[in-house]
Amino acid sequence: MATFVVSILAFIMLSRTPSRGTKEPIDVPGHPIFGHMPGMIRHGTTYPVLLGQQKDHPPIYAMRMFGQRIYTVSSPELASILMRKQKHLDTETQFIITVFQNMLGADKAAMKLLLSSTKPAAKKARTPFREEMRSIEHKLLAAGEPMEAFYESMITEVSRKIDPSGLDNSENSVPLLELLEEVLISAAGTALYGKNNPFVASPSLGKDYWLYDSQMSLFLLNLMPKYTVPEAFKARERLVAAFSAYHVREGEKDMSDIVRRRTEVARRYGCSDDYLGRSEVELLNGLLSNMVPTVIWMLVHTILDPGLAERVSSEIENFVQKPDLDTLSLAPGEIRKGCPVLVATYQEVLRLYSSSARAYQVMEDFMLTDDCLLKKNSIVTIPAETIHRNPKNWGPDALEFKVDRWFNPDRTLNSSGWVPFGGGSSICPGRFFVFDMILSTVIVVLYTYDLRASETRQPPGRKTRVMSGIRIPTEDVLVVATKKQQGKARISVIEKKSKQVI
Ligand code: HEM
Repeated sequence: MATFVVSILAFIMLSRTPSRGTKEPIDVPGHPIFGHMPGMIRHGTTYPVLLGQQKDHPPIYAMRMFGQRIYTVSSPELASILMRKQKHLDTETQFIITVFQNMLGADKAAMKLLLSSTKPAAKKARTPFREEMRSIEHKLLAAGEPMEAFYESMITEVSRKIDPSGLDNSENSVPLLELLEEVLISAAGTALYGKNNPFVASPSLGKDYWLYDSQMSLFLLNLMPKYTVPEAFKARERLVAAFSAYHVREGEKDMSDIVRRRTEVARRYGCSDDYLGRSEVELLNGLLSNMVPTVIWMLVHTILDPGLAERVSSEIENFVQKPDLDTLSLAPGEIRKGCPVLVATYQEVLRLYSSSARAYQVMEDFMLTDDCLLKKNSIVTIPAETIHRNPKNWGPDALEFKVDRWFNPDRTLNSSGWVPFGGGSSICPGRFFVFDMILSTVIVVLYTYDLRASETRQPPGRKTRVMSGIRIPTEDVLVVATKKQQGKARISVIEKKSKQVI
């Protein structure tokens, strides 16, 4: 509430925006109240892309809002330089407020553990609690062994749960997004929290999670969700209560390492049971709110394009080992080599549908390049959409879904031209692990079923979202699924060998 009020006050005091220095990025036209504000609400993180378009995509440009200048970076080269100059930026404060206070509703005691002193000089430093938590997450989610047990459990659960979910009903069409939400939250519940997890005792918590997720923009922007989206607010609180109770009873013996180790750190710093409940909602969000939309976009683009479906399907047939007809054996470390078209589909989905936009505050005036000055107290963002949907970075067909662009030998791209996981010191710790998880899930589904869209001919639109990782479709996609002839009840066997670093 406090940040909301502060934002409103800042909003009213727009006249105090400082005038532009000669070396500062150019301003894009637009009135702060009647132009940018409704633009952001209507288009979310696509708004800066639309503004850039009007000026032929300048590498960096500014808009005035909330009494501040907000710089948007659209050039991969400048994005790399900015990531190297992070010492001039506060990468933490806005992120912590947005995620822990606005999205999760953490109380004052927790915020004190998460946020450094508000004194400008110390502001950008991470607190010891944050530092330790991040280092555990990065260690456990790193490429290689640490999350193997979780991965195995999750993919086994996916293959176990997908059949009874109703997908194998060749008579009727089923809503794919709804089905994936149900299957993946239930699989994640077991893999993360053990067989007796809160979703088993109260299956309606799964629906609560997706209701909360569907209103995420209002939480992130702190637009008084308790009153504007009361049902989603109550759903979040039911999840928090269920996961707090889980921690009061000290979890379950078969909980995953990541849950156990995060809890150990939080308890050592004196976090409350309420905070522990909220922190599980954060973990579920990192995993599911990005994984489900990525999986559905991959499936939808594949099934709506017969040529792509054919290539992906023959790759999967060759890749999956078949010890007998009823089992499916996967070696996640080999996916990159064995399924290049599927990997390109994943990369193209993340290019076109990621919508993250972390905001950093400039702590002191500094020269980003010889002729580009960033001023103290401004905000600088690198929205994934501004980089990914920019024809200067991806060519005139930047807005088209084209898997083959990833095989073009002439493609020369700065590594900051594809940034679905953010960058610099705040980069997503789940980026390696989720590759195995998402691609294996798609392999399990496409190896087991023939899927056909019953009504949709074109991929649906992307729902406007503010700041979250991946856009979701504007409407669900109805599919008819027929189980492939080979095998009956498929059980996945995970080959442990040679996990590859991506
Ligand atoms: C396709 C899948 C995913 C995408 C697109 C994605 C994207 C992102 C992005 C854009 C950020 C912010 C980075 C920044 O602003 O610099 C982030 C942060 C984070 N992600 Fe992911 N993510 C994915 C999967 C995961 C998974 C599977 C997990 C964990 C199981 C995870 C855990 C986190 C956490 C804990 C953070 C916060 C890091 C911090 O505290 O600074 N993510 N993710």
